[in-house]
Amino acid sequence: MVTSKGGISLTISVENLKVNFKTLEEFKKFKEYGIQELSMHEDLEANIIEDNSKSPFYGIYFGDKLIARMSLYEINEKYDRYFYPPQNYLELWKLEVIPEYQGKGYGSALVEFAKSLGLPIKTNPRVKSKEFWEKMGFLSVDYDMERDRGENPLVWYPEGVKAQEY
Ligand code: COA
Repeated sequence: MVTSKGGISLTISVENLKVNFKTLEEFKKFKEYGIQELSMHEDLEANIIEDNSKSPFYGIYFGDKLIARMSLYEINEKYDRYFYPPQNYLELWKLEVIPEYQGKGYGSALVEFAKSLGLPIKTNPRVKSKEFWEKMGFLSVDYDMERDRGENPLVWYPEGVKAQEY
């Protein structure tokens, strides 16, 4: 993807991140470092997962530095309570751009990559990022207490997909 912000043209490439100690070291720079990363670390150490196994993370490198990342997980159609017709969809979380690189198009490049996979997307945004998600074309759902349990999910509908009513 090519973007031009501040007069500079950059080619941004989004790649799937492999689980290895180097990737996990890079993850420490992100604010949302938590149980998911710790469990990957333990699994690697205990040889439960192999070095370089596929991860749910996608990221953008600037040189050899990981500067943006997100996690994407495909949810099976039988658990779909958001989209009509019911179908497999993507849960997107841990979208984060490290501070020095924010506002340069990296966050949108990751979201555009997720959209290019052609499935509907659901995310639970951090409070301060709502405006960003609106710009990316994400919409609020009609809150349902039983389904959403205190979350305020935002969703993106590909063409031909609409909200599920039940
Ligand atoms: N609030 C409002 N608008 C925002 C925004 C924010 N927090 N972050 C980005 N935008 C807007 C940009 O101005 C841009 O608009 P434009 O296309 O009209 O110029 C558009 O969203 C895309 O911006 P982009 O450069 O792709 O965003 P990014 O690479 O900085 O990624 C986040 C967006 C939210 C993922 C990233 O900034 C991030 O990880 N932030 C850290 C945590 C956070 O949410 N901070 C909020 C501010 S305190």
